[in-house]
Amino acid sequence: MNHQELADKNKQYTLAAWAAQGQWAPLTMSRAEGVYFWNADGKRYIDWSSMLINVNIGHGNRHVIRAIQEQAERFTYCRPDYVTEPRARLGEILAEVTPHQLAKSFFTLAGADAIENAMKMARLYSGRQKILTRYRSYHGGTFAAATAGGDPRRLANEPGVPWIVRLHDPYAYRSPLYRGRTADEGDQALVDQMRDTIEFEGPENIAAILLEGYSGTSGVIQGGRVYWQGVQRLCDEYDILLIIDEVMSGFGRTGKWFGIDHYPFVKPDILVSAKGLTCGYVPLGAVTVSPEIAAHFDGNTLWCGLTYSSHALACAAGIACYEVYRDEDLIARSAAKGKILEAGLEKLRDVHPCLGDIRGTGLHFVIELVKDPETREPLSPFNGPLTEPMAKISKFFRDEGLSTFVRWNWIFCCPPLVITDEELAEGLDLVDRALALAAPYVAGG
Ligand SMILES: Cc1ncc(COP(=O)(O)O)c(C=O)c1O
Repeated sequence: MNHQELADKNKQYTLAAWAAQGQWAPLTMSRAEGVYFWNADGKRYIDWSSMLINVNIGHGNRHVIRAIQEQAERFTYCRPDYVTEPRARLGEILAEVTPHQLAKSFFTLAGADAIENAMKMARLYSGRQKILTRYRSYHGGTFAAATAGGDPRRLANEPGVPWIVRLHDPYAYRSPLYRGRTADEGDQALVDQMRDTIEFEGPENIAAILLEGYSGTSGVIQGGRVYWQGVQRLCDEYDILLIIDEVMSGFGRTGKWFGIDHYPFVKPDILVSAKGLTCGYVPLGAVTVSPEIAAHFDGNTLWCGLTYSSHALACAAGIACYEVYRDEDLIARSAAKGKILEAGLEKLRDVHPCLGDIRGTGLHFVIELVKDPETREPLSPFNGPLTEPMAKISKFFRDEGLSTFVRWNWIFCCPPLVITDEELAEGLDLVDRALALAAPYVAGG
C-alpha cells in the first residue's frame, strides 16, 4: 500500500487518539532506523520528538530486537503471580538506577496505568484520600490519571475523580506569581501558596503530591532549586508522600537518569516510569516504591493487578534498553548533545524575534513562540486551534520531513539520545527555516 492507501485504510477501520476523526491526517511509517523513519512512499522524516518522547535509544536498535527475539523463543508470557528471570533482573536494575534506593517495582503496561497504581498505593499506604497535582501537567489518559493531569486533555472527562486538588505552576515566563520577582522569589511565593493549599485542604487528608520529575508535554515548565526544596520540606513537614512521574523525563531524556536527579536532595517515595524504560520496543510501565511502602504491603494486601503485569517480553526489552543506555553512555551523551541543541536554539533567538522562550535541559527542549518578545503574547493561544503562522510552521515541518509536536505556540525539540551533531544541525536548520515563516506576524519581524 502506498502512503495514501495506508492512511485511508487506517481511517476507515481505526480510531485516532485526541482527535476529531475527520481532521486526522496521519503520517505513515514503513521503516525506521536511528533518528529517521520513512513513510509508505519512501519519504524520510527526522524524528525530532523521539515519537512520543519515548524512543530514547532511537529506532531499530539491534541489541534490543535480538533480546526480544530470544525471549520470544523461550516464552512470551507468564501469569503475574508466577515469576521469571527478566522480571527479577529488571526490578534489580530499577532499584539500582532510581534515586535514594527505591526498592521494589510493580510492573504495568505503560504510563497511565502506572500512575493509577501509584496513586492507589499511596492512598492504601497512607489511609488518606487526596492527591495534589499541577495544572500544567499530564499523567495519562485513563480516568483518574486524566483527572490528575491538569492538561486540558482532562476537560472532556470532568469532573473525574473527586480526590485530586491542583496546584499552580512554576511558570516563570508567564505566571503572575513571578511578575516583578526573580525566578527564585517566584518559586518561594509558589511554595508559600502550596502551603496554604495544604492547610486549606487538611494535611491529614492528603496522601501524596504527584509531580513530573521534569515537566513534559505541558510545556517543560520546571521549578528550580527553591521550588523543589520547598516541595520536599512540605512533604516532610506534613508527612505527605511524594510521587515523582518520570514517564517522560526518565531514562536520560534530561541528561540524567531521571529528571528528579537534577535535585538530589529530593526523596521520592514512589517513582513512576514507562516510555524510555523500553523505548517503545514493547509497552511497559513501572511503579518503584520505597522500602517503607514495600514493607507495608508485606502484611497488607496490594490491591493492584493486571493480566499483563511484568510481561516477560517487555521486561526483556527493558533490560536490553538499560544495557544500551549503559554501554553507549547515552545519559552523558544526552547532556552533551543537549548543550549543542540549546546553543543552536539560542542562536536562532538572535535572528527570530518570535522565539520568546527556550526551556529544557538534555535533549528535552521546548521553544515558545510569541507575537512580540516584549508583551510575550503567544503566537497561538493556550488550548486553541493553531493560528495561521503556527499552522504554516506545522505544515512546513511535515512537508520538509521533520516530525515533532507543534502545540499551541510551542515546538518540542526532543530527538533520540543517539542523535549525531550532523543530525542535530539538520533539525536545527529546519527549525530555523520554519521560524522565518512567523516573521510577518511578529513585531520587529
Ligand atoms: C509525564 C507523563 N506521565 C504519564 C504519561 C502517560 O503515559 P502513557 O501514554 O504511556 O499511558 C505520559 C504520556 O505522555 C507522560 O508524559
